[in-house]
Amino acid sequence: MQDGFDLIVIGAGPGGYACALRAAQLGLKVACAERRATLGGTCLNIGCIPSKALLQSSENFAAAAGHAAEHGILIDGLRLDLARMQARKQEVVTANVRGVEFLFRKNKVTWLKGSARITAPGKVTVDGQDYTARQIVIASGSDSLTLPGVDVDERQIVSSTGGLALAEVPGHLAVIGGGYIGLELGSVWRRLGAEVTVVEFLDRLVPGMDLEVARAFERVLARQGMKFRLGTKVTAARVGNDGVTLTLEPAAGGAAETLRADIVLLAIGRRPVTDGLGLDEIGVARDERGRVKTDEHYATNVPGIYAIGDVIAGPMLAHKAEEEGVAVAELLAGQAGHVNYGVIPGVVYTWPEVATVGRTEEELKAAGTEYKTGKFPFTANARARAMGDTDGFVKILADARTDEILGAHIIGPDAGTLIMELATAMEFGASAEDVARTCHAHPTLNEAVKEAALAADGRALHI
Ligand code: FAD
Ligand code: NAI
Repeated sequence: MQDGFDLIVIGAGPGGYACALRAAQLGLKVACAERRATLGGTCLNIGCIPSKALLQSSENFAAAAGHAAEHGILIDGLRLDLARMQARKQEVVTANVRGVEFLFRKNKVTWLKGSARITAPGKVTVDGQDYTARQIVIASGSDSLTLPGVDVDERQIVSSTGGLALAEVPGHLAVIGGGYIGLELGSVWRRLGAEVTVVEFLDRLVPGMDLEVARAFERVLARQGMKFRLGTKVTAARVGNDGVTLTLEPAAGGAAETLRADIVLLAIGRRPVTDGLGLDEIGVARDERGRVKTDEHYATNVPGIYAIGDVIAGPMLAHKAEEEGVAVAELLAGQAGHVNYGVIPGVVYTWPEVATVGRTEEELKAAGTEYKTGKFPFTANARARAMGDTDGFVKILADARTDEILGAHIIGPDAGTLIMELATAMEFGASAEDVARTCHAHPTLNEAVKEAALAADGRALHI
């Protein structure tokens, strides 16, 4: 038995490592158990970071192949070196995971290498070695959901992990699931030359996002050559010499048909990882979807055991996990850690990007909230025209009575960066008029945000 820790965190993803770092900053003696060979969790190793590296590279390639000519830049003999692109992706990942290792050393967080199991409140075993801690935080994250009849082999039928590591551009990539992963990775391979067909169960893409934005997103991606089979479910996948044959059925019922693909990417959501943690033995309660149940202070039903990130309820996003990691560390150190769940942005890093924060129009309608809408298209924004990126619009939803911003949704260039102006405004309880009266630099994309805020009051200037 080793000396006791104040805190053992299980999992070194953005939730767990942020929790460990913040707790160490606040003076606690902290260890973090991680069984992967590198720190950083799903996000840094097989999620956010490698996907954004490939999105950036493939966007550069697509711009060189298409967009550049519009700017008078003519490139002869353009070729793709996919091996180099993949190697660069790995370099980006390595730099990031080493960064977390450096931060652990700097803050004196002990990395317990191996698989952790909680044997009792305050007791954790990591690969056979026993440790004690006053508090335990579970941050074990999530893994890809599986689909009966579609067996992932990470060669021809891949999860996001295999989909990030393809050594060749597939002739035809079929994507099951029109959510974040399907559309980001579908975009990567489409830009590099694959034919891409997205099969989505619902009659829309990116469920949970504002419907008007989702419909615009579908049109833009279709113009980029992505094909969609909405309202369709996959019931079987057969791997043969000729690639993979999927059986498709209308979600509403009807005759089945087949779709042939070279590679199939299964991206229908993620499930919490709790296996091997010993939760049943010590009686940690989970909900109907297998997520660890917590109260508003991240406490489970077992005293001294807390949980954060993808393994608990809420959006499965790295920044949500990180905020919770910091909040629980502060609570354990006697401070008032808190996460504002009303203002958690979500971004799909395609081009154009799609970004959301707060309530959607559908949610406001369902809640019976009276609201007004301010919209402004990038076609009327000078900077977007100069960039040659005029697809999309900014949409602001404000309370009809008080003018408080209730939600904001953007499809357009750098939408993921632009949304933060509105997220910050919402954090301060701002009205649309507050944003409209803020002097915005010219010419910037943010002027479209200001104009949408003006439009909420019927007084946009440039349209
Ligand atoms: P994770 O990052 O999953 O980390 C959990 C860690 O715990 C893992 O490293 C695991 O090995 C470890 N672990 C589990 N059990 C044990 C155990 N018993 N003992 C020891 N270690 C254990 N989110 C965004 O916000 N932006 C994005 O751009 C984005 N892109 C993504 C792209 C892809 C392809 C994927 C798959 C996900 C993406 N996400 C993105 C989601 C994001 O990765 C997750 O929301 C985030 O990683 C969750 O953080 P976490 O700390 O809860 O868990
Ligand atoms: P998702 O929940 O975003 O999308 C899954 C899609 O699959 C949904 O549209 C759903 O309706 C559909 N679906 C479910 N079952 C189906 C079936 N049987 N047949 C056809 N379609 C089906 O999940 P995804 O894309 O797997 O990503 C998982 C999570 O990872 C995301 O929800 C997000 O939280 C996170 N992520 C975030 C990113 C970002 O922030 N940019 C990028 C990638 C992932």
